[in-house]
Amino acid sequence: MIQLHDKIFKPFISSGELDETVSNMVQEVTKDLAGEIPVFVAILNGSFMFASDFLKKYPSNCEISFLKLASYEGTSSTLKVKQLVGLNTSLKNRTVVVLEDIVDTGNTIVEIADLLANEGAKDIKIASLFYKPEVYSKDLTIDYIGMSIPNKFIVGYGLDYDELGRNLPEVYQFYKQTDK
Ligand code: IMP
Ligand code: MG
Repeated sequence: MIQLHDKIFKPFISSGELDETVSNMVQEVTKDLAGEIPVFVAILNGSFMFASDFLKKYPSNCEISFLKLASYEGTSSTLKVKQLVGLNTSLKNRTVVVLEDIVDTGNTIVEIADLLANEGAKDIKIASLFYKPEVYSKDLTIDYIGMSIPNKFIVGYGLDYDELGRNLPEVYQFYKQTDK
């Protein structure tokens, strides 16, 4: 068991299982993209560990770019405008594979896919290490799913609870609240 802030988490997915899951995803993507030089776009912060392990296993030429979804207040005070920051490669006519840590409701990945669609990519595929099918409510297809998991909050391997837990090499699941 580990404690992060006010919550206790229990072991859920070992680093060996994560390694195998990432290897399987790499194998699928490699097969589909034979003959192409894809641009992997890793979504920060959560996917940094997944993206690193994925890239180390990727056997062919590829590029990587990192980006973050930022929201700022629009001109009307209530309007939140989302934008992508950090993209430093042209995606024009490229095959893009988005590397995301987790797809929960799908709100985030749909926003990212919409914004990336304006970058002129030839093809955009989505790869998510974790996916919560019970809560996903969007039409967008998630092309590559590492692992489908129940609707429970998880931390580790890049994922955080209020910024703690990202450094853990395995994944933990919410267990209980502490008394305080
Ligand atoms: P969505 O927009 O509901 O799909 O949520 C996606 C984002 O919420 C992810 O990129 C994560 O940053 C965060 N998130 C969703 N579920 C979890 C979880 O179980 N643990 C940690 N972060 C999560
Ligand atoms: Mg994230």
